Amino acid sequence: MVGLPLAGDCVGSRAGFSTACRGGRLEGKVAIITGGASGLGKATAYEFIQQGAKVIIADIKTEIGRRTASELGPQAQFIPCDVTDERQIAEAVDFAVNQHRKLDIMYNNAGITGPIFPSSIVDLDLDTFDQVMDVNVRGIVAGIKHAARVMVPVGSGSILCTASISGILGGLGSHSYTVSKFAIPGLVKSVSSDLGRHGVRINCISPFAIPTKFVVDQFTGLYPGAKPGQICDIVKGMGELVGTTCEESDVAWAAVYLASDEAKYVTGHNLVVDGGFTSSKRLAMPMPHQGD
Ligand SMILES: NC(=O)c1ccc[n+]([C@@H]2O[C@H](COP(=O)([O-])OP(=O)(O)OC[C@H]3O[C@@H](n4cnc5c(N)ncnc54)[C@H](O)[C@@H]3O)[C@@H](O)[C@H]2O)c1
Repeated sequence: MVGLPLAGDCVGSRAGFSTACRGGRLEGKVAIITGGASGLGKATAYEFIQQGAKVIIADIKTEIGRRTASELGPQAQFIPCDVTDERQIAEAVDFAVNQHRKLDIMYNNAGITGPIFPSSIVDLDLDTFDQVMDVNVRGIVAGIKHAARVMVPVGSGSILCTASISGILGGLGSHSYTVSKFAIPGLVKSVSSDLGRHGVRINCISPFAIPTKFVVDQFTGLYPGAKPGQICDIVKGMGELVGTTCEESDVAWAAVYLASDEAKYVTGHNLVVDGGFTSSKRLAMPMPHQGD
């Protein structure tokens, strides 16, 4: 994980993570991060803690989730949670409130891609489509619903969801994944005025491809025989912004901003973290020769 500037005064370290931070943009806030056991969720949990938050990692992978919470130190806790089961989401929210008497931030981040093949709609397996929608859309709806249940009565809170550049441009992922990610900015817009009347904000983040396990597995299907290091290079080489690449910490910082009071008037927004990939394309057409 990339070393990041610390907002607070940090002492101590455990398994490579600084702990016991004081001061920061999320000082005293309590957050749940679904899918926080690995990848973008784990990086965000790390950064939230650096900024003074307590984080509950809610993930279906129990062993990895426990290990991640332990690596992140005493400000992190783990609760097993399958986001497709509304009861388990409700329990995660109740756990936060019972432990910390409040929930300030709900980050609905858990997601799956489903198989990238077959790529044709003709061959689409609708059971697979349902599984992807179950995690990526229904799981997020349930997360929003139960976070709102405890945030609305207190008149504050920040809800985040992970969308994707696959929710802006077609053809970057499977049909199932693409549809599921297009749904999220719509969901955020649908809910924002409802929640806004109660002082609760909701936003989503649309990251570019970052070579987490999730993406490496997908690209290994596209480039059989390629080694993980080569896959990482392919993914990083797809970006438009020269001189840098998209990293987990870029998403984590976007989440810190949206979750913080600095974004107090930002709601219903899709914060795209893609180095301009979905904004514009350079037409690389060969110039005709003079005199042709
Ligand atoms: N990595 C990227 O390039 C990229 C780009 C755009 C969007 N995203 C989105 O970011 C999010 C996180 O992906 P990642 O790249 O960190 O992948 P990841 O596989 O490292 O993390 C996903 C996490 O979600 C958890 N999860 C899966 N199903 C779950 C369920 N039913 N209940 C609870 N937890 C569950 C997994 O156990 C895992 O810890 C996903 O929503 C993904 O669609 C990723």
